[in-house]
Amino acid sequence: MIYITRRESFNAAHKLAREDWSLDKNTEVYGKCANPNWHGHNYQLYVTVKGEVNPETGFLVDLKWLKQLINVNVIDKVDHKNLNIDVDFMQGKLASTENLAIAIWDILKPLIAESDAELHSIKLYETENNFVEYLG
Ligand code: NI
Repeated sequence: MIYITRRESFNAAHKLAREDWSLDKNTEVYGKCANPNWHGHNYQLYVTVKGEVNPETGFLVDLKWLKQLINVNVIDKVDHKNLNIDVDFMQGKLASTENLAIAIWDILKPLIAESDAELHSIKLYETENNFVEYLG
């Protein structure tokens, strides 16, 4: 079993706030991320797939294919967008890094399964110091 990772970047706005909570309560729980007038992050997305090396090509997957798959199905939908408002697959969800990573997993898992590889993990950095990792 071998693992290979493709990194992509995107910039997006969001806020973390529950509509059924007051601003005070949201600020208490989510801090600066509850700012009613939004804020942005420079996200880094790491998509790791696993499988066996194809003896003919020497590849696990063609990284050009993986790049294209991630860009068309995820990056184009979130880059320079508002995660709370603009992104169809985040509708009705709190726009946390955790929920975003799970949503990206749910999108990419079946698409990658069409190749010889399998999705292993989604790692999503919201800041240099904070990231989540999801393995399904
Ligand atoms: Ni934030």
